[in-house]
Amino acid sequence: MSYHNIGNIFRKCHHLKHSSQVFVLSVTRVATVAADINRYEDPKLANAKPFEQIPSIPTFPIIGSAWVYMPLIGRYSLQKQHIADRQKYAQYGDIIREKIGHLNIIQSYNPKTMEILFKNEGQYPTREEDGKEWWDLRSKTQKHIMKPKTIQAYLYPMQDVARDLVKRIYEQRDNNKEVPEFLQDLHKWALESIAFVGLDTRLGCLESNLLPESDGLRMINSVQTQFDLMNKLEAFAGNFQFWKYFPTPTWKKFIKAADVFTEIAFRYINRSLENLKKISVEDKELTLLQSMLLTKGLDTSGAMVTVTDMLMAGIDTTSHTVGFLLYHLAKNPDKQQILYEEIRKVLPNESDKITPTVFGELRYLKSCLKESMRLDPIVRGNARTLDHDVVISGYRVPAGTVIGVALQVVYRDEKYFKDPNQFIPERWIIKNEKNTTPFAFLPFGIGTRSCIGRRLAELEVICVSTEIIRNFKVEYHYEDIDMYTRLINTPDRPLKFTFIER
Ligand code: HEM
Repeated sequence: MSYHNIGNIFRKCHHLKHSSQVFVLSVTRVATVAADINRYEDPKLANAKPFEQIPSIPTFPIIGSAWVYMPLIGRYSLQKQHIADRQKYAQYGDIIREKIGHLNIIQSYNPKTMEILFKNEGQYPTREEDGKEWWDLRSKTQKHIMKPKTIQAYLYPMQDVARDLVKRIYEQRDNNKEVPEFLQDLHKWALESIAFVGLDTRLGCLESNLLPESDGLRMINSVQTQFDLMNKLEAFAGNFQFWKYFPTPTWKKFIKAADVFTEIAFRYINRSLENLKKISVEDKELTLLQSMLLTKGLDTSGAMVTVTDMLMAGIDTTSHTVGFLLYHLAKNPDKQQILYEEIRKVLPNESDKITPTVFGELRYLKSCLKESMRLDPIVRGNARTLDHDVVISGYRVPAGTVIGVALQVVYRDEKYFKDPNQFIPERWIIKNEKNTTPFAFLPFGIGTRSCIGRRLAELEVICVSTEIIRNFKVEYHYEDIDMYTRLINTPDRPLKFTFIER
């Protein structure tokens, strides 16, 4: 189960690199919450059905239930876990029990479980192993990364990057008006955007002749290698995680790629530190990185880990989100037309920029984005490990169990969304959805562990899709696009859009 775990893997990588200790990491360390000593026992626990009665995939010694993903004997595809989830839901109902290695896993298809997790997650909600260490860092940095004013300062720079992508689309279009490697270009746009925010620099990733030794190209290659290898290192892909016990070749390659990234990132962070010495803090608007570097109790390596998390978490997420959004707009030309008219209305002239007021007025675009994230979310669901027993769907689930909610299934469940497979942005404007609980749609997660980059991501995605749609009519004339399950869900075929200038 991998729900946007990049930060965790990366932190592991840093942790291991900077200490020469053995490669043993506990997969699930349960948070210790001081206040829990007096936690009252939920009376429902006494009447709950036992854990063992939760419908389960047959399990065997050592492999547990992992055989269902194995070639020949398995029934589900690891490449398409959203489909596997739908099949499991249809066969087993609301809740299912699995065992991967020594890990007990609950998979729920009911948004009510999200509510239970949210209410029970305590001070240091855990997805995997960290806890207090995670909170130490997050509490010091989130006040900057999530602050609306800090993020709004990036509105104009993010439009500059978006315009560079549009320029690149014009340059790269072939005779059919298609861009041959559009997903790659989206990755470059995303890295360029997040590096500007995290490293105070324009890397130049969207320039037409990027040199192999340029920071931009080295960084892109490093990130791509790391993503590929992370997929191999993650258990969700059916791999045995030997790297936790000794440095496997894949792990070594991962560290090597990460080193390139770290070296470049450090250089820019140090440059920003140097610049800080030259300016008077009082009379200068600080960048996000500078604010972090000046945060009390946050040393350079803490800032480094945060920036690295941001850079790694801010590439495939935003780029794939834009890819799926453009796909749905291309498949629904009537909706694209409504969106174009909205954009024309608030930005009538070519040189008009998205001001904070205009940003607030792009309501249809925000609904299109939500609708696209509902149909094709880049994260399959959400997961937590609790430090006490809870009742889920009438069963007692013991502390330490990994509890996942396959929200992607919920998003297309007609119990919660009418005409669930249709792209209907209007559903978010005219709130006529029956039965929909706030826990049925959480593309950025929930609670203190929710996406730290949400505001920034929305800003980037809104800027770039506005620029694309005001320049081009986007069409798509090939087989329908679905997704592959990776750390971040990925389109399963090339994004061969036709970009017709308006
Ligand atoms: C559309 C784009 C994005 C989506 C849909 C998304 C979604 C998510 C989700 C679902 C989580 C897990 C939340 C939870 O467990 O409750 C998460 C965590 C996280 N995201 Fe994003 N994300 C996006 C973009 C970004 C960007 C641009 C950044 C960079 C600043 C970022 C940084 C992070 C980090 C660092 C975490 C871990 C937070 C923690 O554990 O404290 N994300 N994201």
